[in-house]
Amino acid sequence: MKILLTGANGFLGQYLSAQLLEKGYHVMATGKGESRLGIKGKGGFHYKSMDFTNPFDIHDVFTEYKPDIVVHAGAMTKVDECETEQWQAYLTNVEGTITMLLNAEEQKSFFLFVSTDFVFDGETGTYTEADIPNPVNFYGKTKAEAEDAVKEYDYEWAIVRTSLVYGQPIGGRSNLLTVVQQKLNNGEKYKVVNDQVRTPTYVEDLAAGIVSIIEKKATGIYHLSGMDILTPYEVACKTADYLGLDKSLLQKVTAENFSQPARRPLKTNLIIEKARKELGFNPLSFEDGLKSTFPS
Ligand SMILES: NC(=O)c1ccc[n+]([C@@H]2O[C@H](COP(=O)([O-])OP(=O)(O)OC[C@H]3O[C@@H](n4cnc5c(N)ncnc54)[C@H](OP(=O)(O)O)[C@@H]3O)[C@@H](O)[C@H]2O)c1
Repeated sequence: MKILLTGANGFLGQYLSAQLLEKGYHVMATGKGESRLGIKGKGGFHYKSMDFTNPFDIHDVFTEYKPDIVVHAGAMTKVDECETEQWQAYLTNVEGTITMLLNAEEQKSFFLFVSTDFVFDGETGTYTEADIPNPVNFYGKTKAEAEDAVKEYDYEWAIVRTSLVYGQPIGGRSNLLTVVQQKLNNGEKYKVVNDQVRTPTYVEDLAAGIVSIIEKKATGIYHLSGMDILTPYEVACKTADYLGLDKSLLQKVTAENFSQPARRPLKTNLIIEKARKELGFNPLSFEDGLKSTFPS
């Protein structure tokens, strides 16, 4: 089975590449520019530079590789950047996904799209796969629009929604836990919101959930997140406590007194019962996720 992965240099992509290889898949990992992956020279693993906003790049890779499965994990992921650079965000997250779908259709590939809890408005919280997206910022809008395009795909597809992914970044972007560690280690104060609710997701769990979808050829929408419902401030405090760092440097703020270009949805805790039942998805508790992120 040949898998084409986008966003392979990213936080999730690094872990997903490793797990897919362990399962014996042939992986064509792609990213912008050169590989930043630790994996090199392993049988069944290839890397190709592919900017998925460039239709010629995409077409070349699909024609050469003919993937059975496409995992589209790459995206413009910084929420504030999407708000201030909307054209680039649209081009990357919506147009890029549509071009990937058009090429995948020619190969009749299974198409798995990685989406976000930010497709919801956060008014009610506790979202299931059946709830209707209603994004409150541009990043969420692009991901919701890309989801709509995936739902129109002629062959088998799956959409994975996840929330506040954390873990040790191998080469990809940092996350709330590693930023807290870095700030507090440097003795810097750090403002964290306490009026938003998420279900933080350990990156290895997310990767394992995606692998299960591939193995079971499961289709439709799946929420893959952790099971603890926490505010970012609570996440930061637990991280500081676990690492024995000075928690008093963490400043509790609310969205109202914390100015950011993009509005954030308030409560986006995801219900994962469907994934538990159908995929055997069994994520770590946040306490165990902390231990896995910072092994002693
Ligand atoms: N991290 C979270 O908390 C979170 C939460 C919900 C959903 N998600 C979703 O999960 C997926 C993976 O996120 P992540 O945390 O791994 O993000 P990430 O570390 O930012 O990785 C995204 C990757 O996409 C690549 N990319 C962006 N534009 C590209 C283009 N035009 N052509 C090729 N590659 C491009 C980036 O390349 P460069 O590194 O070269 O820029 C980056 O490596 C995304 O779809 C995201 O929306 C993440």
